Amino acid sequence: MNDSLKVCALEDVPERGARGFEVFWDGRAIPLIVLRENGQIRAYLNSCPHTGVRLEWRADDFFDAEGQHLQCTTHDARFRPEDGHCVAGPCRGQALVAALLEERDGQINLLDPQSLPRSARRR
Ligand code: FES
Repeated sequence: MNDSLKVCALEDVPERGARGFEVFWDGRAIPLIVLRENGQIRAYLNSCPHTGVRLEWRADDFFDAEGQHLQCTTHDARFRPEDGHCVAGPCRGQALVAALLEERDGQINLLDPQSLPRSARRR
């Protein structure tokens, strides 16, 4: 059976922005980065491929100064928002783990939480 977990309301994520959320499943916290652009939403596991730490050092502060890429503040890796691919930094060529979402009636849900790796570490 596939599980679905409530993450947030669609309106909680600003257009061309990103926010961090934590959902709980099977006794563990799953940290997510939820992005929204042109009404589309996507999410990644908030876990840098380099060491597994969360990307941000301040709540909901995921983008670089130019607002073009997601940034890991530990060693400055940069990730394309559209696919999570790392384009600069020590994990160049790797990618953030995509999380499957659905939006229904203004609510964003995480689908198949069991498919996400147990790799996220807290700072
Ligand atoms: S921990 Fe993210 S770049 Fe090193």
